[in-house]
Amino acid sequence: MYKFIFLSPFLLIGINVSMADDYEDEVRKRLGLNTEVAQVTAISNDDSESVPAGRSGEIVYNLGCAACHNAGLAGAPLYADDSQWETRLIKGLEMLTSNAYNGYNAMPAKGLCMDCSEEEIKRSVEYMLEALTIN
Ligand code: HEC
Repeated sequence: MYKFIFLSPFLLIGINVSMADDYEDEVRKRLGLNTEVAQVTAISNDDSESVPAGRSGEIVYNLGCAACHNAGLAGAPLYADDSQWETRLIKGLEMLTSNAYNGYNAMPAKGLCMDCSEEEIKRSVEYMLEALTIN
């Protein structure tokens, strides 16, 4: 009995601390502030190549591809135009990514995104393909 009374304040402190952690986690979750999300946000504002996660397909597209693919410049297949992508779709995501990353005729390597990683180019190609209704 004596031992129990002696130890109980420590037990209580332990419980309080872990409850506080849970509470903070819960608040962070509800605010959409879990650490992964925070990282991606920080990364999308950063242009350096050393960033492991990289930018989203949409960000890369607007940054490095839209200039040509929104206007059909130099014969670039138009964004979201099924008929202009029909014959290219057959090549598959890997080949299209490789052509966008390495260059293909008038399509310059990496478009206008000189510091893009292959993964980022792949995401932007996926973003372009998702705009089609025939895939
Ligand atoms: C300077 C203009 C320009 C920019 C910038 C540009 N493209 Fe292109 N893209 C083209 C042209 C032109 C073609 C057509 C090439 C051909 O078929 O001869 C093309 C074709 C493609 C193709 C089809 C390749 C194939 O094998 O049929 C993909 C995929 C592509 N671009 C992705 C991208 C992505 C992703 C970006 C941005 C990272 C981008 N492009 C930026 C001009 C551009």
